[in-house]
Amino acid sequence: MARSLLITQISELVTNAPDGTAVTGSGRFAAIGDAALVIEGGRVAWTGPAGRAPAADEVVDAAGRAVLPGFVDSHAHLVFAGERSAEFAARMAGLPYQAGGIRATVAATRAATDAALRAGLRRLAAEMLRQGTTTFECKSGYGLTVRDEERSVALAAEITGEVTYLGAHVVPAEFAADPAGYVDLVCGPMLDACAPYCRWADVFCERGAFDAGQARAILTAARARGLLPRIHASQLGPGPGVRLAAELGAASADHCTFLTAADVDALASSGTVATLLPGAEFGTRQPYPDARRLLAADVTVALASDCNPGSSYTSSMPFCIALAVREMRMTTAEAVWSATAGGARALRRADVGYLAPGARADLVILDAPSHAHLAYRPGVPLVHAVYQAGQLAYPDTLAAAPAAC
Ligand code: NIG
Ligand code: FE
Repeated sequence: MARSLLITQISELVTNAPDGTAVTGSGRFAAIGDAALVIEGGRVAWTGPAGRAPAADEVVDAAGRAVLPGFVDSHAHLVFAGERSAEFAARMAGLPYQAGGIRATVAATRAATDAALRAGLRRLAAEMLRQGTTTFECKSGYGLTVRDEERSVALAAEITGEVTYLGAHVVPAEFAADPAGYVDLVCGPMLDACAPYCRWADVFCERGAFDAGQARAILTAARARGLLPRIHASQLGPGPGVRLAAELGAASADHCTFLTAADVDALASSGTVATLLPGAEFGTRQPYPDARRLLAADVTVALASDCNPGSSYTSSMPFCIALAVREMRMTTAEAVWSATAGGARALRRADVGYLAPGARADLVILDAPSHAHLAYRPGVPLVHAVYQAGQLAYPDTLAAAPAAC
């Protein structure tokens, strides 16, 4: 029999499971006060009031800390070399964000060794874990040759099952005079090389990147190879990406910064999640997306980091939660739901993003008594411990320490 672990004296256990069972439907935030949780065989076996907790083989005293589902970061670009802090500084001095900056990272990535790319990727993954992320998606998109995209997705597949083919990030400089030729490459030999490593395909559908016709062709070809669609849509201005995402049954339309009424209707009437990436608005000094409008229309909203060296060089879901609360007027409960269960919806994962019997035991113990501290204490490292599939993943050992409330 698997050994059981009881985590008790939890001041607030965020379950996202209002009826105490697995999450279905649009879902909502739910939490239990003075709670405990039992893990067995890598899964949650029991949740409820601490006073009624069953005995277990091992006990962890949370000492009045809050416990949340691990964050599910459903949008990240982690395979790249170099950095673009000069571009960031110029933006902060008044220059606009331009999609073409991606090409600088493409040049650095192509020139990097596999070992350097792997080291950078693992550094960011470790950074994410320390900040409570237990599931993350990882895109290619800084290689843009068959070889460089293939090695990007192969490296990503070493550390996550949520790998996304983003050969259609921008048209690389060598195809500037022949964008149709590049789309053919993305739909043909590049897709053939990348598909075995990927679950998802994405397109940057935006003026200066790929139009709706190109995006449809790429995502349709990818779907024929078993890859599920998701789209970068309406990041820099209104465009066709959100409606295309709904039309194709995409899991998620990401960014959604400039939405029309038709876009909101399309999201509301499709199962497509709106994934908001406030780190990108922070890093590009753009207006934040209108989360309240989406929530009012009953659209499922996810929050993700968009971690990348250009628009949003943060790996921190707590930072994104704080931005969503302060700048997008999400409640603390909505923001935490969107960063956990919402991310799980955007990745079509039924096993993560909530804590109820049967869920994967991915959780964060906060050095704080409630989830609200993630926004209330912005910038403060509040992650006390992280468990993945029931195993302590961060830190290496759990020192008995008084609660820091
Ligand atoms: O999601 N918009 C496209 N891709 C990234 C930015 C990539 C970059 O600037 O390097 C994003 O913001
Ligand atoms: Fe992105």
